[in-house]
Amino acid sequence: MKKILLINGPNLNMLGIREPGVYGNDTLESLERMFCDYAKSRGVAAKCFQSNHEGELVEKLHEAHFNFDGVVYNPGAHTHYSYAIRDAVGSIATPVVEVHISDVSAREAWRNVSVVAPACVAQVKGRGFQGYCDALDILLDGAAERLGEGFEEVYAPGQVIIAGKSARREEKQ
Ligand code: DQA
Repeated sequence: MKKILLINGPNLNMLGIREPGVYGNDTLESLERMFCDYAKSRGVAAKCFQSNHEGELVEKLHEAHFNFDGVVYNPGAHTHYSYAIRDAVGSIATPVVEVHISDVSAREAWRNVSVVAPACVAQVKGRGFQGYCDALDILLDGAAERLGEGFEEVYAPGQVIIAGKSARREEKQ
């Protein structure tokens, strides 16, 4: 049976309390339960991990290389600046899908940038908790290619961008 790791980064333990207008009223516990139930329905085993500490997250990603077939990862604010997290994702062969509950491209300018996504095989954003299930589907569809540097220029903007599979932007004139 395939093993999938769900990782949530900093402040996602505050779901249900934190900015409900942006992230909704449901808790991390309910998110993890939903994810595990969905994984079970798709015939895979899921484990869940949340941390507010960058080093712990780096170590969990390394562990995923040895023990998991795929990772669904919401890096929280680390998305926008943590090269340590980006390098950790780039260090492992296990495919990682980056997920955001909110649409980070429609919020503050600093949230538009993901330094982590280029090392991931896909990015899912703005689909609420459903995005985590979409990410699992992407992994089970066999996504393996990384998005790569400058992927935003290569792929048409959208809530779901999958390396090698999403629509490409029109050639610039
Ligand atoms: C988030 C978006 C990030 O910008 C923010 O720092 C988070 C949550 C999301 O799920 O929408 O912590 O990753």
